[in-house]
Parts: sequence; structure tokens; C-alpha cells
Amino acid sequence: MESEILYFSPTGGGRKVTEAIRRGMETIDGGNIVPCIFVIPVYGGHMPELAKRKFNDVVSQDHRPAVLVAVYGNRAFENALTDLDAFVRERGFNPVAAGAFVCEHSYSSAETPIAAGRPDADDMKAAEEFGRQVGEKLASGDFSSVDAGVLKDEPSPEESVKRFSAFVSEFRASQEAKPHKLVPKYDRELCTGCGICVSVCPAGALRDDYSIDASLCINCCACVKSCHAGALDFKSPFAVPLSENFSLRKSPRWIL
Ligand SMILES: Cc1cc2nc3c(=O)[nH]c(=O)nc-3n(C[C@H](O)[C@H](O)[C@H](O)COP(=O)(O)O)c2cc1C
Repeated sequence: MESEILYFSPTGGGRKVTEAIRRGMETIDGGNIVPCIFVIPVYGGHMPELAKRKFNDVVSQDHRPAVLVAVYGNRAFENALTDLDAFVRERGFNPVAAGAFVCEHSYSSAETPIAAGRPDADDMKAAEEFGRQVGEKLASGDFSSVDAGVLKDEPSPEESVKRFSAFVSEFRASQEAKPHKLVPKYDRELCTGCGICVSVCPAGALRDDYSIDASLCINCCACVKSCHAGALDFKSPFAVPLSENFSLRKSPRWIL
């Protein structure tokens, strides 16, 4: 079965997972059925605003089947699939399947690994299997809608959630007391001037002279991960608490 893919994937995890989903779907003969796969990362438990803007003009006149995919950094996907579900329905699509997959967290680094190396071989196998099941469902003539909100997070240990929530409250309080926007740090000495970071920035926040427009930066780390010279670095205050509290492996889950 063929598919059309619409992804917002600043650091490439969602793109990898979707290639595996597509491979699984291609093992099924779907005739003329061409579902649309929507792929988003989870940001703060939600669908990112920038993804909404990127997909804003996509509409379906004929109730086209949509496959909803959220990738997240092993903490939680929370409301992201519910957001995406509402978003595609408003644009005339029919959500027939939804899945949540773990990918390396945008803030993961050697010192603070968070779901490092994911999607791994098992994740890719699962994503392929999800794609195959979606293909089978549609090829059998089953176009029934799913409510993506039914898909719930794999629980994290209570203590981890508590510690992380306390950190978030403290961080918010410090931001309220003294608002400051964090952006990646740029090291001119290390920069080779290749310009890849500028071209991959989905927010248009990196200027040609490598200065960063803080009002546009969404902290997605696309620039950091794309820089082979290590000239861009983002030390998120969330990296340590995420690494410390969400190291237990979560598995992909989906509904059809
Ligand atoms: C601003 C921001 C917020 C994030 N919020 C969450 C979150 O709430 N839960 C989670 O598990 N991961 C969160 N992540 C991690 C991303 O969802 C994860 O790295 C995802 O795989 C990125 O997808 P991509 O590689 O396709 O860009 C966040 C990342 C960023 C940059």
C-alpha cells in the first residue's frame, strides 16, 4: 500500500520511524488506497505549534484515511495524539490508526543520555509491524475511525514523575521571576561555515551569519544535531532531570 507522508521532524527521529511504517505498509496490496501519515514530535506533552502551522493548509475533501504518529523522548506523549486527532479531523481526514513511538530526546547528549540511540532495531521492527497492520486494516475495507485519545502513556515510576514535576514548577517560577529565553550557543572558532544548521532550522531562527533570533527559536535542537563540527550546543535545564528520571525503557504502542 502506498502512502503520503507529512512530517515535522526537526531531529529526524520521526522521519526514521515513518520510513519503517511505510515499509510495513508497502508489504500489503492496497489498490488505490493511499492514506496520509502525519508525524509529529511531542513538545511539552502537546503537538508543536510549528507543526500546526506547517500542516495548516492540508485538507481532505473525501474523508481520507489518516495515520497519526507521535514520537517522544521516553518521558510521555500526554495530549499530543489527541491534539493531532482533532487537528486532522478539522481538516476533513479520517484517523484510522494512531501510534506513539520513542525516539532519542532532542536534549539527549553523552553526559545526559535520554532514550539515546532510539529508534533502535526493535523500535523499527515494531514500526514496520504497525505499518503492516494499518495496511491490512485498510485493504480489508475497514475504514473505522479511532479515537487517538484512547491511547495512554506507559506509566513512569511515581517518584520520577514527582521529582520531574517539582523541577518543572521550580523552573516556571524562576522564569516568571526573571524571564529569559534560552537558545543554543554558537562557537565561531569551531564553525566550518557549511551552513547546514541554517538550512535545517525549521523555525527560520538561524540567520546566515549564524546569529539566532531568540523570538523564533523553538529549542528543537535541529541545528545542534546537524552540526558535525560541534559548533552549536544547547544545554537544556531539562536534560539532567529527564535523564535521571526517565531512563526506564518505554515501548511503542498503537491502536487501530
Ligand atoms: C521543546 C521540546 C519539548 C519536548 N517535550 C517532550 C515531552 O513532553 N515528552 C517527551 O517524552 N519528549 C519531549 N521532547 C522530546 C521529543 O519529543 C523527541 O526528541 C522527539 O523524538 C523529537 O522528534 P524528531 O526527532 O522527529 O524531531 C521534547 C523536545 C523538545 C525539543
